[in-house]
Amino acid sequence: MARIVVTGGTGYIGSHTVVCLMQQGYDVVIVDNLSNSNTGVLDGIAAITGKRPTFENLDCMDFMSMSRLFSRYTDIEAIIHFAASKAVNESVEKPLMYYRNNISSLVSVLDLMHQFNVNNIVFSSSCTVYGQPDKDHLPVDETAPIKKALSPYGNTKQINEEIILDEAHANPKMKATILRYFNPIGAHPSAMIGELPNGVPQNLLPYLTQTAAGIRPKLRVFGNDYNTPDGSCIRDYIYVMDLARAHVQAVERMLKKKSQEQVEIFNLGTGRGLSVLELISLFEKATGVKVPYEIVARREGDIEQVWADPTKANTVLGWKADTPIEDVLVSAWNWEKRIRNI
Ligand code: UD1
Repeated sequence: MARIVVTGGTGYIGSHTVVCLMQQGYDVVIVDNLSNSNTGVLDGIAAITGKRPTFENLDCMDFMSMSRLFSRYTDIEAIIHFAASKAVNESVEKPLMYYRNNISSLVSVLDLMHQFNVNNIVFSSSCTVYGQPDKDHLPVDETAPIKKALSPYGNTKQINEEIILDEAHANPKMKATILRYFNPIGAHPSAMIGELPNGVPQNLLPYLTQTAAGIRPKLRVFGNDYNTPDGSCIRDYIYVMDLARAHVQAVERMLKKKSQEQVEIFNLGTGRGLSVLELISLFEKATGVKVPYEIVARREGDIEQVWADPTKANTVLGWKADTPIEDVLVSAWNWEKRIRNI
């Protein structure tokens, strides 16, 4: 079966994707520098799939080591490039780190792909490229304009997409699939892998499950005075396993040469917008666990509402995010309980 290199493969979305690839019979090589993960993730993947994936402890920015990797594995059919820094706040404080990590790693990967004749890449992008879409563009589809980025992190995703388009133009053999994720949440149903934030979580779901577990006294809801039905922000929360499956389908589509286009872009979301308050209430109903929360001031830089029009992914990629939100929230809670021994 085809060999796939997954950069950032011990990370949150990467590890779930590795599981799906291995279960479809792909031969996976994980490349990760463990900057935001640990080798325990490999044990989790092995427990689920019955096989330990090949792991290369490497930084994608280390061109020489990456070059040796490409010479060692001569049969790489595709790269899924997850490796990147992703904390919005941190990117505001350390912009250069974000530009260096997120841009030079992609440049190295594309350069080596060209050199070693590896022609397929799936790239992790984000709905952040749309900023706050105009009202007539909600739900947001792939034709919505790219707005000026609100953070260095968001800017790196926009620049990365442009780099891919430029390289595709220069290199006719190259094919790319850019996946724009909405808000990934949840964990593998086995609770053997999941999201492991460093320190105080910045994202809603890990903060919520840590509050439910009693680690944080209260969840802070950032604003209830937005122009939305209940005043809190709206997002499109997508199950990480549905998202992982989309990567396998994107790889298959490229390997089977189903697309005429050199670069394809897909929004990956459910098509359903949920407010922060709705999500808390759904979590409480699904798990039977109360989440103490308080309304606090708006968080700077937050977008009021964004959710996906996933029609293109549904029809062209043949993919749909169909896991019920209750199951997704239970999976997140089961993971939190397992890692806290609750
Ligand atoms: C943002 C980016 C996303 C990026 C992600 C990485 C947008 C639209 N999305 O997601 O591309 O990958 O950061 O971190 O720019 N909230 C609370 N309390 C909390 C935490 C969050 O109320 O303690 C609320 C936020 O105000 C927001 C929602 O929950 O309305 C989701 O927040 P979060 O999980 O941080 O994701 P985004 O900011 O949507």
